Amino acid sequence: MRFSKASCIGVVGSGAMGSGIAQVAATAGNQVFVYDTNEQALQKAKTNLTVTLSKLVEKQKISQEESDSILSKIEFVNSQEKFSTCDLIIEAIVENLEVKKSVFSSLEKIVSDTCVLASNTSSLSITSIAAACKLPQRVIGIHFFNPAPLMPLVEIIPGIATGQGLAEDCKALILSWKKTPVICKDTPGFIVNRIARPYYGEAMRIAEEGIADIATIDWAMKTIGGFKMGPFELTDLIGHDVNYIVTETVWKEFYFDQRFKPSLMQKRLLEAGFFGKKSGRGFYNYAEGVELTKPTEDLEKGNYIFNRIICMLINEAYDALYLQVANEEDIDLAMTKGVNYPKGLLAWSKEIGLKNVVATLQDLYDTYLEDRYRPNVLLRKLAK
Ligand code: NAI
Repeated sequence: MRFSKASCIGVVGSGAMGSGIAQVAATAGNQVFVYDTNEQALQKAKTNLTVTLSKLVEKQKISQEESDSILSKIEFVNSQEKFSTCDLIIEAIVENLEVKKSVFSSLEKIVSDTCVLASNTSSLSITSIAAACKLPQRVIGIHFFNPAPLMPLVEIIPGIATGQGLAEDCKALILSWKKTPVICKDTPGFIVNRIARPYYGEAMRIAEEGIADIATIDWAMKTIGGFKMGPFELTDLIGHDVNYIVTETVWKEFYFDQRFKPSLMQKRLLEAGFFGKKSGRGFYNYAEGVELTKPTEDLEKGNYIFNRIICMLINEAYDALYLQVANEEDIDLAMTKGVNYPKGLLAWSKEIGLKNVVATLQDLYDTYLEDRYRPNVLLRKLAK
């Protein structure tokens, strides 16, 4: 399979991700067809894209000609007919395995035998989506991050039936779109959504234990850790409907491993409909006139919080490395380019000192007697 710059790309689903991916593909010079079953969603995507591009022109990020060219390359369609000419289809519809399977199997009736079918799923198995297809060798995961035009990282996930070499071809294509591709194994959460879990989970655990309040934890991770956003403001921004479901899916897919156990604190927010910033209330209350909670800037406590969360993240990064989810370089690239971490976790572990990381984890393990805190075998070996 070889893609060219003038490839024809189909996008299924015109929501947040589908329209972002369409913009990226058209900016790279491809002809793009965006299809959605919901006519209103399609119209909204078209309007939003026009507004986004005109803002980019206003800010002089792109010229009027570039904007016109991108717009002329994207066609919003309410039938899948045009997909027959496409070289690659990227699916970005609702995160539901049965729906995705049925969409993939019906796409096969329209597209050519050489057309690659990719899913932008965050947490579902590529292998199981491919199993619904007559030609599972053409199915792969191409996972963008939100917002797709701004976030550089793209995870490429071959399933077990994916044809040899297809991941490399997709990597070359994504590189030509000026993105940062990493290849990873078809395992729950791929790289980013697996390794990042403790950023949220351990922060919530610390708050649930009453060690510190949410504002203090956010403050510690930003000022001591250098993260752009604290765990609570970040999950409020992502939305608890999205973030909680990803955590729960990863936990279930890992056969209820304690390391990924969701937090009741977050589940209650979800049950209350407090989805975060978008609904006006999450961990924080965003109602007008309500002052956001202030942190207690206690350096000793801050250091404890940062050290506990960063060591849990590092442990997860070593677990992914040990189980060959991706190579060392891609694991670090993924966290810096997909979720804006200030440093790659494996590189960070060497700065902190592997022995120190193991000592923190071992201390947590001895204190809590929970498997959640067991230091990874590779990390322990390397620390020796
Ligand atoms: P969204 O809800 O914004 O958009 C989904 C769109 O798909 C809607 O417009 C809907 O009308 C359409 N759709 C649903 N069923 C369809 C069908 N059978 N055929 C055609 N169109 C259909 O969802 P979003 O956030 O764009 O997510 C899409 C996918 O991308 C999901 O698999 C999600 O897990 C994944 N993803 C989401 C990220 C995020 O931060 N929102 C990040 C990375 C991946």
